[in-house]
Amino acid sequence: MASALQDGFGRTIDYLRMSVTDRCDFRCVYCMAEQMTFLPRQQVLTLEELYRLAALFVGQGVRKIRLTGGEPLVRQGIVGLCRRIAALPGLRELVLTSNGSQLERLARPLAEAGVKRLNVSLDSLDPARFRAITRTGELAQVLAGIEAAQQAGFERIKLNTVVMKGRNADEVLDLVGFAVERGLDISFIEEMPLGEVGRSRDEAFCSSDEVRALIERGYALLDSAEQSGGPARYVRLRDHGQTRIGFISPHSHNFCATCNRVRLTAEGRLLLCLGHEHSLDLRGLLRRHPIEGGPVLEAIGKALLRKPQRHEFALHGEVQVLRFMNASGG
Ligand code: 5AD
Ligand code: SF4
Repeated sequence: MASALQDGFGRTIDYLRMSVTDRCDFRCVYCMAEQMTFLPRQQVLTLEELYRLAALFVGQGVRKIRLTGGEPLVRQGIVGLCRRIAALPGLRELVLTSNGSQLERLARPLAEAGVKRLNVSLDSLDPARFRAITRTGELAQVLAGIEAAQQAGFERIKLNTVVMKGRNADEVLDLVGFAVERGLDISFIEEMPLGEVGRSRDEAFCSSDEVRALIERGYALLDSAEQSGGPARYVRLRDHGQTRIGFISPHSHNFCATCNRVRLTAEGRLLLCLGHEHSLDLRGLLRRHPIEGGPVLEAIGKALLRKPQRHEFALHGEVQVLRFMNASGG
């Protein structure tokens, strides 16, 4: 069955990203301010509410769910939630994005719970730089987490690197080498201007075309028509068949025409587009209608008709979107 969820531009929505917490044990410079105030508990969706929404969306034809944060693995009860969502009839895959800090402990339980694939953030292979970018992160712990994830038997593991000049752009080749050695995929991401993180973003901006040129110094690239149902464009390496390299380019390549996704924030707002403030308060609806799904589904259907045609990010000038990334589900 095709998804019953359609937006006003004829796009089918079959992918839901759910933030299960706004909290995180890291404070990445592109994501958070140094001092963050997190949401009070009662404003965050309960595990039961998260499950209920997942079930409603899957019932409407959503085929893929990604759990994000903040850091999803700092949420108590996350493994049980994964097990229940993974078992929803009709869902094709449950996947998760993590900073890797808890994976040494949780990789195996998550794989056993039915999580199919993982994305793990990794911005540097140098402990001091890793600490500078994440402000609190311990590289060794994340590397051990990636190792544990490889042992745990996920279908695929993908690394995510936000590339910033002056911070990690000179490590692009080393990061590709790390992925190649381990048979992992890696995506390089252009920094998106979300939230006021206390510094100008254009100084560090590194375009996907520049990243690609850096990689070509060390590897022969083959263009690939592969699509993961997301905004990344992929290439393969001529001499290393396993690894796929993705480029996620919100600035230099607009990918909105094929957008198939919506996002749920930790406090239960349905975001129709990362680049706009439009949202629907699903938490209020869930709490007003604790039993029937009808009113919730009706509101979702109406909101989708207001999904914008495309995002507009600008490097210069004011920050247009005041949400931080940790509040929007990645
Ligand atoms: N721009 C681009 N990517 C970001 N992420 C977080 N904040 C930003 C931003 N401002 C990405 C990180 C991480 C994922 C959770 O979101 O790379 O992999
Ligand atoms: Fe945490 Fe991910 Fe944001 Fe870094 S990017 S602070 S790991 S939520």
